[in-house]
Amino acid sequence: MFALASILILLLSLLAKVAYYPTSADAEIILGKDETARVLLLTAHPDDECLFFAPTVSSLLAQPSAPDASGRAVELYSLCLSTGDADGLGEVRAGELARSLDILGIPEGRRWLIDHPELPDNITLSWDASVIAETIKPYVLANKITTILTFDRGGISSHPNHASLPAGVSRLIASLAPTADRATRAFSLITVPLLHKYIGPLAVAIAKFDIAFAALLRRYGAAPPGRVPVFVAGVADYRTALNAMMQHRSQLVWFRWLYVSFSRYMWVNEWTEVRPPPAGSGSSLA
Ligand SMILES: *[C@@H]1O[C@H](CO)[C@@H](O)[C@H](O)[C@H]1NC(C)=O
Repeated sequence: MFALASILILLLSLLAKVAYYPTSADAEIILGKDETARVLLLTAHPDDECLFFAPTVSSLLAQPSAPDASGRAVELYSLCLSTGDADGLGEVRAGELARSLDILGIPEGRRWLIDHPELPDNITLSWDASVIAETIKPYVLANKITTILTFDRGGISSHPNHASLPAGVSRLIASLAPTADRATRAFSLITVPLLHKYIGPLAVAIAKFDIAFAALLRRYGAAPPGRVPVFVAGVADYRTALNAMMQHRSQLVWFRWLYVSFSRYMWVNEWTEVRPPPAGSGSSLA
C-alpha cells in the first residue's frame, strides 16, 4: 500500500514537472471578456484572504494591472464583511487584515472592511442574504465590478458566516440589471471533502495533472465536460501567503500552523459559477 502510494506520488510529481500547462485559459472563464476585469474578493473574516483564497489572489495580481499588448488587465478588490470580533479582537484584527493585504498586494482604496450589526462574526449564526446583498451592492456599483469571488455553500470550513455569502451574492447579481454589454458574474470557491482537504502540496501535482490531462483531451477534440477554473500557487506565491498569514498574529494558534502546512487551499483554488436564483423563487432563498 505504502509502496503503491509512493509510486503514485512520484508519478504525479514527475507529470507535474514535465507537463506544465499555464492556467490562463481557465482564468478566462472567471475574468470574462471585458478589457479590464474588476474582480471583488468577498470574505467573511480577516485571514480568510490568506487561508482560503491566496492562490487566486496571487494569480490575479500577476496579471497586467493596465491593459497591455494583449489588451487585458485585472484589478483586484477586497471586501471583508466582519472585523472578526467573536473574541473581542475586532480592532486588532482590522489592523492585521490591512497588513496582510499590504503583503498580498491589494492597496488601500481597493479594500474595505465592514462592521455591520447584522453581520456579526459568530460561528453559530448564518447571515441574511438580503443584508449581504444590500451591504455589498454600493461597492460593486461604484467600482463597476465585473466578477465577484466568494465562498460556496459548504463555506470550506462549514463556518455559517462563510456559507451565507453565496446566497447573498446570488441575490445581488439577480437584482443588478445586466446592461447590453456587461453583467456582473460571480464564482464560489469549491469546498472539497475533508479527506481531500489536507493534502497540501500534493494538491498542486494533482491539479496540474488534471489541467494537463484536460488540455490533452481538448487537443484531440474530446473536451472534458464542465471546465472548472483553477488557480495553482507556486512556491513564491505560497511564501507570500504564509507571510501575509503571519500578520494575523492573534490567529496563529498551533492548529493554524497545521492548516497552513497541509491545506490544499494554500495551493489550489477551484471555482464554480454562482447562478442567480431562478426567477420568482423570491424569499425561498436561504
Ligand atoms: C453568537 O450567537 C449566539 C446566538 O445568537 C449568542 O448566544 C452568542 O452569544 C453569540 N456569540 C458571540 C461571540 O457573539
